[in-house]
Amino acid sequence: MIAPSILSADFARLAEEADAVAGADWLHVDVMDAHFVPNLTLGLPVVQSLLQATDIPLDCHLMIDDPGRWAPPYAEAGAHNVTFHAEATDDPIAVARDIRAAGAKAGLSIKPNTPIEPYLEILKSFDTLLVMSVEPGFGGQSFIPAVLDKARAVRKLVDSGDLRLLVEIDGGINVDTIEQAAEAGIDCFVAGSAVYGAADPAAAVRGLREQAAKASPHLTLAI
Ligand code: DX5
Ligand code: ZN
Repeated sequence: MIAPSILSADFARLAEEADAVAGADWLHVDVMDAHFVPNLTLGLPVVQSLLQATDIPLDCHLMIDDPGRWAPPYAEAGAHNVTFHAEATDDPIAVARDIRAAGAKAGLSIKPNTPIEPYLEILKSFDTLLVMSVEPGFGGQSFIPAVLDKARAVRKLVDSGDLRLLVEIDGGINVDTIEQAAEAGIDCFVAGSAVYGAADPAAAVRGLREQAAKASPHLTLAI
């Protein structure tokens, strides 16, 4: 699955930018609050408008403090998947429960330097795991290959049937990095600059998907 990130799109033309990636599996929406990360992007009103403007399921990536308070409204609004950061809350299970109760899939994200081991036990409360392969906050950064060890560890649990979870990666994904991520067991690839920086974004999505599918040793769960 390919999820183009609108962080690299033209924010004044979001409806057209969603149309430009017709055929994408999810549309990745980076919500930043200038507290959890040093950047500020968009929030719930823009997501509500985007939901009216596209049929592509929205994958909301909340890089914000206090997700217990702010995450469930994205689910209520109609986002397909709502992901928040493990580093931003003391009670990730409660936040996941509230997101699911509001009708969306729940995702947990971890920054490049956050280990996965402390969270393995709670992943059964989630539908997706978003492994960050750059420091969250900005598009266009270089892929950090060391994070793939975390994807491999979780892939093993999914393949052995111990966990039902979609493994997603975000940051620095492009034609040079997507194959190693696919080999490590990623199901869903977020790509910002590699898609919206291309002359034909929809063709870039198809190209990345084909490249990932060829390199992928596993089947992706549909969630
Ligand atoms: C970064 C965001 C990413 C960003 C990825 O904090 O979470 O989704 O848009 O951009 P690229 O693909 O350019 O690294
Ligand atoms: Zn993101």
